[in-house]
Amino acid sequence: MLKVGVLISGRGSNLKALIDAAAQPGFPAEIACVISNKASAEGLKYAEEAQVPAHVINHKAFAEREDFDRAINAVLQAHGVQLICLAGFMRLHTPWFVNEWHDRLVNIHPTLLPAFPGLHVHEAVIKSGTRFSGATVFFVRNGTDDGPIINQAVLPVLADDTPDTLAARILRLEHQIYPQAVRLIAEGRVNIHEDKCFIADHVASDAFIVNPPLS
Ligand code: GRF
Repeated sequence: MLKVGVLISGRGSNLKALIDAAAQPGFPAEIACVISNKASAEGLKYAEEAQVPAHVINHKAFAEREDFDRAINAVLQAHGVQLICLAGFMRLHTPWFVNEWHDRLVNIHPTLLPAFPGLHVHEAVIKSGTRFSGATVFFVRNGTDDGPIINQAVLPVLADDTPDTLAARILRLEHQIYPQAVRLIAEGRVNIHEDKCFIADHVASDAFIVNPPLS
């Protein structure tokens, strides 16, 4: 069983999706601990309900960002964590931390990376007029939202979408693909070559969607 540590700052719906997936028989990973930088993070309740050890490490208690990262690292090490999932964790890690966890630190982002990295993405997607958006799970590197992509899900942007409606539909995709990414990693099926992911035993699909639909 791969030991996973999940880092959150807020709502925690992706944490819940990972906890629920890990509770399924045969899932090859377990949630070993949860860390939040905020005591008020609503997602902490999911850890409590599932009896997963949860820790609050307040970033404001540290003078230097690296000291904060070292405190997080110590907790992760104490729980024997092998893979970190960032799930709405709103602090940027230092290069020291990112390098320490190279290829063992993943994040989820609510667009089709490399398009629309950063914040306020749904507004930007709608403003751009692009016909599709989606979600991406990727390995974290030192740039913003630019690491090797593990998996993605796509959906059409609807004519009457607002940032909130688009975010809500994409969140449902996130809850599907984050557990899938963890499963693929835990099964040893994600190989990184020249900073690009290759998925072993991957059955390709040539399905496509058109937006607006063809007929
Ligand atoms: C998600 O939209 C995720 O893609 C982004 O932050 C949000 C976290 O939501 N990185 P939740 O806390 O998991 O509900």
